[in-house]
Amino acid sequence: MTKIVNSWNDFDPLKHVIVGRAEHSVIPPEEPATSEKVPIDSEMRGMWGPRPLETVEKAAAQLDFLAKTLEEHGVKVDRPTPLQWNQHIQTPDFRNDSMMTCMPPRDILLTIGNEIMASANSFRCRYFEYLAYWPLMKQYFDEDPEFKWTQAPRPRLTDKSYKHNYYDEQISLEERLERTANKDFVTTEVEPMWDAADVLRLGKDLFIQHGLTTNRTAMEWFKRYYPDLRVHAVNFPGDPYPIHIDATFVPLRPGLIINNPQRRLPEEQRKIFEANDWQIVDAAQPAHDTPPPLCYSSVWLSMNCLVLDHKTVICEASEVHQMEQMDKLGMNVIPVPFRDAYPFGGALHCATADVYREGGCEDYFP
Ligand code: ARG
Repeated sequence: MTKIVNSWNDFDPLKHVIVGRAEHSVIPPEEPATSEKVPIDSEMRGMWGPRPLETVEKAAAQLDFLAKTLEEHGVKVDRPTPLQWNQHIQTPDFRNDSMMTCMPPRDILLTIGNEIMASANSFRCRYFEYLAYWPLMKQYFDEDPEFKWTQAPRPRLTDKSYKHNYYDEQISLEERLERTANKDFVTTEVEPMWDAADVLRLGKDLFIQHGLTTNRTAMEWFKRYYPDLRVHAVNFPGDPYPIHIDATFVPLRPGLIINNPQRRLPEEQRKIFEANDWQIVDAAQPAHDTPPPLCYSSVWLSMNCLVLDHKTVICEASEVHQMEQMDKLGMNVIPVPFRDAYPFGGALHCATADVYREGGCEDYFP
């Protein structure tokens, strides 16, 4: 019996990780929380169905290569077991014509210390995605007597969970930004809803993005569930589609964070970092003007890197500006081609979930 699960942040030495799989991925049909989150000019609006096989194969190859690279750097890699995502699902509260994928794992699994918790996602199409990780969770459970295998309270996702007609008419970018600034999001507060990728773990402190995928009730839930940790709600007013914190605010090592220059953390929320001598620097510009085809995310996946330890980071191989910045910040860069995997939900940090990093629960903001 050994310790399998331990991780308190995104930068201590990584020893064991889950890398997602693209097989059977589907572009899900519209539902109350998703259409609001697909950019208005996206070619994906209104379309759904299995993703083209050729794109799945290309993404799978890049995911395999990422796994191999990690193994070469001494990191143990596990992979989920995809379901046939293209099937209709039903609960007592809703029906949906299909599921989505088991990409990216970062959205579903939250590792805090010796606990891995499956999240309370607001997308109906992601309701059963956790099942792809259950074989691994059982394995960790058998091998590690201290591993806490947890499922957050499951949201019901009835129509009451969403504001209807939230984005009904064609609204302008300005209007979207105004809604972000006013913290007016598509989900209601009838139950806690959160995606694991909205939670930034820094030891004793959790910084949780309040946005389209995580609501205030979730913040309150986190406070009560983790009474020994400090929960901070953060907002990034410049983001018209605030979903997941890891292309916006990305720590590289204790004391250093890169922040998306279009989505700067407000003055008020910077204080805790400044008071503790943390540096927040603007991330480098993305190397691309547009995301790849059939992609939900923005070009800022450029900064969605995977930190292996305080001096080593994996970056996407075509993101020349980001790699150069990493170098200047004193990081050794391992380039990995990953753009073919972007359409499946994100880049290198998104596509992984922590199982084991060395180190314990530090108090960085005493
Ligand atoms: N909302 C981010 C952007 O488009 C993408 C975040 C993806 N992260 C993730 N864990 N799926 O800039």
